[in-house]
Amino acid sequence: MQRNVLIKNEKEIQIMRGLGKILSSMFIELGKMIKPGTDVWNLEKKFIEMCDESGVIPSCKNYSEGGLPPFPSGLCISINNQSVHCFPKKGVILKEGDIINIDTVISFNGLHVDSAHCYSVGKIGEKNEKLLETTEKAMYNAISKIKNNAKIGALSSAMQKTVEKDGFNVLKDYAGHGIGYSMHEYPEIPCYGNKNEGPKLREGMTICVEALVCEGNDTVFNTSDWETEMADGGNFCIFEHTVLVTRNGYDILTN
Ligand code: MF3
Ligand code: CO
Repeated sequence: MQRNVLIKNEKEIQIMRGLGKILSSMFIELGKMIKPGTDVWNLEKKFIEMCDESGVIPSCKNYSEGGLPPFPSGLCISINNQSVHCFPKKGVILKEGDIINIDTVISFNGLHVDSAHCYSVGKIGEKNEKLLETTEKAMYNAISKIKNNAKIGALSSAMQKTVEKDGFNVLKDYAGHGIGYSMHEYPEIPCYGNKNEGPKLREGMTICVEALVCEGNDTVFNTSDWETEMADGGNFCIFEHTVLVTRNGYDILTN
C-alpha cells in the first residue's frame, strides 16, 4: 500500500521540484528529436536513457491500475487522432503536419511528477496550430486560478470556457489529478465544470492540471486495454503540468 500524503512537507516539495526540473529538461531534449522521419520508438529509447542518467524512475513503465495490464512503456505517445495512454511503437514514423503528444511521469524516493506537451511535426495546418495554442492556454488559464482555498471547479470552468470559446471540446472521460507518493491521487481535476463547485485546494497540495482537448466530439474508444482514439477521427491535444498550491497562488514544478 502506498502512502497518500495530501499536504507535502518541505522535503517532499524539494524532491518534487528537483524532479520537475529534470522532467522539463527531458521534454526539451525529446522536442529536439521531433521532426519528419523520426521513429517514435527512438523517443522512448532516449527517454529511458535520460532516466538512467539522471537516476530517476520512468513511472509509467509497468504501471498498473484498475486491473489493467502493466503499461508497457515509459512514455505515452499519441499522434493526431490517437488519445490518452497510447504506446510508442517501433516503426511508427512522424511525418510533416502531424501533431504528437508526449505524456509521462518520473519518480524518485517514491514521489512522482507528471507532465505532457504537444509538439508539431514540421509545418502543421492552421487548425492544428490553433488546437495546440488553445490547449496550452486552457492549461495556463486553469493554473492561474490555483491558490489556497480555491475550488477545483474554478480551474475546471476556466479550462472548459477557454477551450469551447475557441470552438474545441474537452474530454469528459479523463481528468487531472493530485500527485505525490502515487501518480494518481485525490483530488480529481475535471476539464469541465462549474466554478463554484468541487473540493477546495489547500496550500501544500501538489496537483496535475491536464488540459485534454479535442477538435471535434469528445467521445473516445479503446483500441487496446490502455490505448484510446477519438471516435470521430478528430485530433487530440494535451498539455499538463504538476503544480504546487501555495498560500497566495501556485508554483509550477515541471517548468
Ligand atoms: N498524465 C497521464 C495520466 O495522468 C500519465 C499516465 S501514465 C500511465 O493519466 F502509465 F498511466 F499511462
Ligand atoms: Co496526469
